[in-house]
Amino acid sequence: MSRRATHPLRFGILGAGRMGRVHAEHLARHIEGAHAVVWADPTEPDLAGLARGLGIERIADHWREVVDSDDLDAIVIATPTDTHYDIVMAASRRGLAIFCEKPLDLRLPRLREIQADVERRHVKLMVAFQRRFDPAFATLHRDLAAGRIGRPHTLRIVSRDSRLPPESFIPRSGGIFMDMTVHDFDMSRFLLNREIEEVYARASRLVDPMFERHGDWDTTVVSVRFAGGVLGVIENGRLASYGYDQRVEVFGSGGMLTVENPPHALTSGATGEAVPFFAERYAEAYRIEMQAFVDALLAGALPPVGVVESIRAVEASLAAARSVAEGRPVAIDEIRSSTQF
Ligand SMILES: NC(=O)c1ccc[n+]([C@@H]2O[C@H](COP(=O)([O-])OP(=O)(O)OC[C@H]3O[C@@H](n4cnc5c(N)ncnc54)[C@H](O)[C@@H]3O)[C@@H](O)[C@H]2O)c1
Repeated sequence: MSRRATHPLRFGILGAGRMGRVHAEHLARHIEGAHAVVWADPTEPDLAGLARGLGIERIADHWREVVDSDDLDAIVIATPTDTHYDIVMAASRRGLAIFCEKPLDLRLPRLREIQADVERRHVKLMVAFQRRFDPAFATLHRDLAAGRIGRPHTLRIVSRDSRLPPESFIPRSGGIFMDMTVHDFDMSRFLLNREIEEVYARASRLVDPMFERHGDWDTTVVSVRFAGGVLGVIENGRLASYGYDQRVEVFGSGGMLTVENPPHALTSGATGEAVPFFAERYAEAYRIEMQAFVDALLAGALPPVGVVESIRAVEASLAAARSVAEGRPVAIDEIRSSTQF
């Protein structure tokens, strides 16, 4: 049963790492209709200071304390991916609205369980695929939907990180397809408004030996076939020396549209300046997605990105991993009907 909302909505935040801080800052300063009142992170030594700086009333040692609070409307989950399932299920039982970082979970049975649970309880859950809310990608989406380039034929996405994650992040991330490409799978579905049918992935280790230590990859190229025969190529890299690199091109029967890097997004690695990363590139997108979540809650509507979007992107990520392991194209139907995932 979902709760009756207060106004402004009262949020709890779980996790004070890279994404937790982004969401905390937005809820403290830039979001209308909601604010954060409690923040939990078991390992952040200066959580009290961070919370004070953002006007967040209290901190908690454990996520359960937050989920069990009686004064909340919603929680933001920005903890490592392998913690999401337990927290989401507990929050759903409490009737809290849930904003969860991507990917909601790494396994399909758990995602389906979450889907059934939140639907049964009428709990509103949003998965944080923020690229959909980036003004440039949202414009591309609108232009494609309006038929500006006719029928799409091909899509190309380049997505390269500008800083390596800490090694401790890798074993909990689900691997590069689940951690990075999952965004691109979601964005390609969003832009083309069609489903992924098959993927054929290649992967290498060219950047850092730590990826091999965890059975992961750092450089990948995925060939994608979408419904209706549209083809795509998604290229990911864990480290671009020149900065965070995020570009998209869609080619169609009547033209071609691109989204390039914003001018500030690329810097020379040699200057010693801070190299922009996702927090800078998607600052506006993170704000807009959180506002969209809050607006949906206040309107009593479903949030714009739900469990099904996570399931579709995770299916494609699982297919890509299997494709690399077995050296062959893998159909999404094969993943969906398998009992292995
Ligand atoms: N949308 C995006 O662009 C984007 C970018 C990066 C990460 N992410 C996702 O965000 C999530 C967090 O990633 P991150 O990069 O912020 O990780 P991070 O390691 O920087 O931060 C995670 C924080 O969660 C804390 N934590 C761990 N277990 C906890 C628990 N049980 N309760 C409360 N806090 C807990 C850790 O102490 C840490 O401070 C992951 O699911 C990741 O996939 C999304």
